[in-house]
Amino acid sequence: MHFETTAIHAGNEPDEETGSIAPPLHLSTTFERDESGATPRGYSYVRDGNPTQSRLESALAAIDSAEAALVFASGMAAASALLGSLPPGSHVVLPDDSYYGMRIIANDFFPRWNLTASFVAMHDLDAVRAAMTDATRLVWCETPSNPLMTIVDIAALAKIASDRGAVLGVDGTFATPALQRPIELGADIVLHSTTKYLGGHSDVQGGAVAFKKRDELFEATLHARHITGGVASPFNSWLVLRGIRTLAARMRIHCENARAVASMLEKHPRVEAVHYPGLPSDPGHEIAKRQMSDFGGMLSFRVRGGRAEALAVTAKTQVIVRATSLGGVESLIEHRASSEGPTSRTAENLLRMSVGLEHPDDLVSDLQQALA
Ligand SMILES: Cc1ncc(COP(=O)(O)O)c(C=O)c1O
Repeated sequence: MHFETTAIHAGNEPDEETGSIAPPLHLSTTFERDESGATPRGYSYVRDGNPTQSRLESALAAIDSAEAALVFASGMAAASALLGSLPPGSHVVLPDDSYYGMRIIANDFFPRWNLTASFVAMHDLDAVRAAMTDATRLVWCETPSNPLMTIVDIAALAKIASDRGAVLGVDGTFATPALQRPIELGADIVLHSTTKYLGGHSDVQGGAVAFKKRDELFEATLHARHITGGVASPFNSWLVLRGIRTLAARMRIHCENARAVASMLEKHPRVEAVHYPGLPSDPGHEIAKRQMSDFGGMLSFRVRGGRAEALAVTAKTQVIVRATSLGGVESLIEHRASSEGPTSRTAENLLRMSVGLEHPDDLVSDLQQALA
């Protein structure tokens, strides 16, 4: 089956009781037991699981070619449950340019969980090999990365990890399973902030982890979610499930529009650099061509000058909204260092853009007048 078809039908079987085509939203927090005290229909309490969440999990597993998926209240809840479920004493290799929240988890929480971390430029495979130790249980990467759009070779990293008995986890939030399916490339785990493209409308927060196998780490993460409670609510699960139905169609336009914006910016005299893997000049272009079916809707660029010049551009946009986050239908622009706050290591002249579904000519002319 093609991706578009799977994304529409997985987890979307007509309701057995009523025949409804849209999946029912089960808000119940608790479920009836039988006379013997058992739960023959599989549900007992909402923090354990509920039917709307189960539909979303089967849809996510299907679109990521995974055996199982777990959904959470946010991307960070998903990442924390997963990382906190590694055996104490584990070492994790992390990208030096990951989503800043991951760096903060490693710095602030790893010591409490008895984990250690090495931060590495993940596109440098020799550096990754050199960072591996006998205690390394997880190699983590993010491709394209946030906010520099760095591309790393998933298949090569999967081999490096498995050669040393570790697993590879990929934050696939920017690419989505519509464009990149890490498990098909050899990865063991995929993380999504479903707040972004999977939800798709800037109106729901959620996270998900897809697992190649229902293995020990899956069971430990499920246990962590059950006990620490970072589970996705039924309504949020329902909204993400709805978003997945249109994911393939939306991603086509996100990619087309981002291409138009990136090629205008690349030629603009006020732009020092554009980070977009779809540009043939981008250092990640060749690998991205191999492992992605298109290049996505996210890009970042550096304005000539510094903080003031970059902020002046965001102050002038009229269609593109000044806000953080990504993956919704509307285009957003942000001064990334301001959003990341005091621990940011992002260049002061860097702007990140989530290219939305508006007409590309309107986005290009809005940026041109803002840069003028
Ligand atoms: C690449 C990436 N991973 C993870 C997250 C965290 O997701 P959430 O905000 O849903 O917790 C984000 C959020 O921006 C992200 O961009």
